[in-house]
Amino acid sequence: MFTIIFGILVSILAVLAVSLLSLRNWLRSCKRKLKGSFDGTVNIGIFHPYCNAGGGGERVLWCAVRALQAKYDNIKIVIYTGDIDSSPNSILEKVQGTFNINVDKQNTSFVYLKRRMLVEAKLYPYFTLLGQSLGSIILGLEALCRFPPDIYIDTTGYAFTLPLFRYIGDCKVGCYVHYPTISIDMLRRVQQREYCHNNQTYVVRNPFVTWMKVVYYRIFAKIYSWVGQCSDTIMVNSTWTENHIRDLWGVPFKTHRVYPPCEVKHLKELKRNENSDKIIILSIGQFRPEKDHPLQLQALYELRTLLSRKEELWDKVQLVIVGSCRNDSDYERLKNMQDLSKHLSLENSVEFKVNVHFQELLQLYQKSSIGIHTMWNEHFGIGIVECMAAGMIMIAHRSGGPLLDIIETSEGSQNGYLATSALEYANCILSIIYNSKELNDTIRNAARSSVERFSEEEFEVNFLRAVTPLFNET
Ligand SMILES: *[C@@H]1O[C@H](CO)[C@@H](O)[C@H](O)[C@H]1NC(C)=O
Ligand SMILES: *[C@@H]1O[C@H](CO)[C@@H](O)[C@H](O)[C@H]1NC(C)=O
Ligand SMILES: *[C@@H]1O[C@H](CO)[C@@H](O)[C@H](O)[C@H]1NC(C)=O
Ligand SMILES: *[C@@H]1O[C@H](CO)[C@@H](O)[C@H](O)[C@H]1NC(C)=O
Ligand SMILES: *[C@@H]1O[C@H](CO)[C@@H](O)[C@H](O)[C@H]1NC(C)=O
Repeated sequence: MFTIIFGILVSILAVLAVSLLSLRNWLRSCKRKLKGSFDGTVNIGIFHPYCNAGGGGERVLWCAVRALQAKYDNIKIVIYTGDIDSSPNSILEKVQGTFNINVDKQNTSFVYLKRRMLVEAKLYPYFTLLGQSLGSIILGLEALCRFPPDIYIDTTGYAFTLPLFRYIGDCKVGCYVHYPTISIDMLRRVQQREYCHNNQTYVVRNPFVTWMKVVYYRIFAKIYSWVGQCSDTIMVNSTWTENHIRDLWGVPFKTHRVYPPCEVKHLKELKRNENSDKIIILSIGQFRPEKDHPLQLQALYELRTLLSRKEELWDKVQLVIVGSCRNDSDYERLKNMQDLSKHLSLENSVEFKVNVHFQELLQLYQKSSIGIHTMWNEHFGIGIVECMAAGMIMIAHRSGGPLLDIIETSEGSQNGYLATSALEYANCILSIIYNSKELNDTIRNAARSSVERFSEEEFEVNFLRAVTPLFNET
């Protein structure tokens, strides 16, 4: 009995190995043929199944394509996408319209993948991580068979395709990671549930499930680490992601921090238009709970106490909270915030603006002198970068991206303020109000020039530097 099962297993493995080997040889001959027809051309395959989405991840993709085309003249770029109902022309037109990025149309082509639904989370109600990862391998296999490239770059975080292209497709591989698929925080959270929910019936029912989940995450993290190490070069979008990827993949010498491109150019050119009888503090963010708008109101409350003997100064202060509401629960949160501002008797100093147009937002940028951000542990904070580019003095939460990547508070290079508690925020506002004009200008100018780190130009330089090793050895 045992030997039969063993025999079957061995034969399955043998068949699998033989088919992978023959696939590998077949792909090699395909590649040789491709090479023969385009003399000396390097084929670059970029995996981006949702390339027509028009979000931040897509800006990364198209800036990268443009940068590669500007630097190398013997390359052909193929984008693996699942947007089967968009023609190449319509995709490239949208890129031009949304991001104002022109790519060389002749040498950019698309391979349309039919199995994109395999990477969608809704297909896997259980074991989502594992399901999506296995799905991405199959999708990657489709991509590889349709067009085997010389260089493969994954720009959406499907790390499981990396070993496939490296070992079966025989490519040089690189990846750009926005977000680790699994994080140490996630592991910790699952584990901690074991300690903090260790009560009554829970003890009987849950420890085993929790234990299983921890084991599952552990194993997944191990595999994730192995697939990540297959990459010849790794780019990460922020310090937060970098720390996680370093912990998980353990290859710091191949890991490069390449900030994604933000549109800061037009904001940097925006003229200031402050009115001297008002001190406007601007807050921008969706009305989501994690944005912690109540902290902003509490900070204002503390500020009033600090300014209790300077009524004329207090009367100048105005907090403008700009945000968008997606659905009813956001509107309810907005209502609660308005009630809270009445409760703290701040209604004359606070103004709420919902779903404002871009033009109005630009005017607000010009009129406001101080920006406030209160979200704890935000991974990055594009909104903060935009406010700084527009010339506001920012007070951001002392955690996550603002602390690690954006705000510098040491004397001499200060470009903003960091705070945690309501009182700290109030003190920051107060010290800005009492700042000398020189210090105000220094901070403002430092902020405006520091956002250059997040510009398209800077992205392109760093991206090209990070992918150089892929070209050297082909
Ligand atoms: C496209 O690639 C070919 C050969 O690699 C090159 O000669 C040509 O100049 C490229 N086209 C453009 C518009 O750059
Ligand atoms: C990196 O990607 C994550 C996930 O998309 C995002 O939350 C974060 O803001 C990004 N970082 C930067 C610097 O844009
Ligand atoms: C566990 O029990 C303690 C004391 O009985 C209680 O204070 C705590 O809230 C309980 N924790 C959970 C998660 O139920
Ligand atoms: C509103 O949207 C958020 C996020 O998409 C969701 O978590 C929440 O349940 C939604 N609320 C309602 C009432 O639809
Ligand atoms: C410094 O900037 C704050 C905020 O714009 C302003 O209230 C204050 O008057 C400025 N200080 C001087 C001396 O202009």
